[in-house]
Amino acid sequence: MKIVLAYSGGLDTSVALHWLKERYDAEIIAFCADIGQIESLDTIEERALRTGASKVYVEPLTDRFLKDFALPALQAHARYENKYLVAAPLSRPLIAQRMVEIAHAEGADAVAHGATGKGNDQVRFFTSVTALDPDLRVLAPVIDWELTTRESELAYAREHGIQVPVTPDSPYSIDTNIWGTSIECGELDDISQPPPERAWQLTADPKVAPDQPEQVTIGFETGTPVALNGERLPLPELVQRLNAVAARHGVGRVDIVENRIVGFKTRGIYEAPAATVLMTAHQELEAIVLDRETLHHKQSMALRYAELVYYGYWFSDLRRALDSFVSSLQTAMTGDITLELYKGTHSVLARHSPSSRYSGSLATYETGDTFNHQAGAAFAYVWSLPLTRP
Ligand code: ARG
Ligand code: SIN
Repeated sequence: MKIVLAYSGGLDTSVALHWLKERYDAEIIAFCADIGQIESLDTIEERALRTGASKVYVEPLTDRFLKDFALPALQAHARYENKYLVAAPLSRPLIAQRMVEIAHAEGADAVAHGATGKGNDQVRFFTSVTALDPDLRVLAPVIDWELTTRESELAYAREHGIQVPVTPDSPYSIDTNIWGTSIECGELDDISQPPPERAWQLTADPKVAPDQPEQVTIGFETGTPVALNGERLPLPELVQRLNAVAARHGVGRVDIVENRIVGFKTRGIYEAPAATVLMTAHQELEAIVLDRETLHHKQSMALRYAELVYYGYWFSDLRRALDSFVSSLQTAMTGDITLELYKGTHSVLARHSPSSRYSGSLATYETGDTFNHQAGAAFAYVWSLPLTRP
């Protein structure tokens, strides 16, 4: 048997690599997607080989992740339950897609991941792999094995000579990529308490963030962020730089009690500094570029889009259809939005677009007003007719 394992180099997937190999007497191909996670991947190949992998793929996928997954979600304004920018859910279909491709190239019988049975991620891996190849088996060793505590996993690692990264005994379950960071478990499960400051991984505490506000200008071309403060940058670099600036000002924190796919509520905290700023900027640009009806229709779809991503329905006809609607509206989405970052806030300062529908002369109450006031009154008369009885 040959298995492609989504391997992060952490405790769970290191133990999983060894466990799968023994349990199925299998050849293990370790696959690690480099999507801008915090953890260093410098020694990951060597560690996977030492743990027993026969082959290792460490692939730089940040570009593909941003272009094919994060950018459509940005343009759709995907915020699950109005708050969460779905960084982790967006990464799962990409990881699943590459696992399926590698499984086909290597002639593997199964793919495997390290997510738990009560989580969303196991659902997302399963749905994504199944949508792409219903015949491929999806193994979830963490669900199947008897190692129910971190201690028992560490003991298994010691017993089998598996080198695991020496990380401090963190109570948190953390997932990171260039689009954002998810933090769950530990004290966070007490929803009557604010998150401890040490739980945040990226962003400064807004209270101790710089006293000087900082301006950032995002340049968009046909809906894609292409410049930061006038400097043209490839998307990964733009996001990386904006992450650093916005994180310094404590921007992009979310604390949410969310509804999991598997039926219960959990509390999570999320940090998405660049994604938060980019989404606000994109929304501000949209506010001046799109006509009212299109804008309102698009807004009514944003939650649905986020739901599909969160639910693991990336590879669904509905997500593709919503994406073609959203992308058809990006042609006019060119312009610059300036925001001010200050102690956890990000406020819009200026909006410019060659495709702007905003007319100063229609809006003004000063001289130069071009609006037809009589027409306005006649319109009000007609508009009120449905509210009256003849
Ligand atoms: N609850 C979040 C979600 O479903 C976080 C998942 C990320 N995984 C983690 N190990 N923290 O998207
Ligand atoms: C997990 O259970 O593996 C992480 C949390 C989630 O997927 O929701």
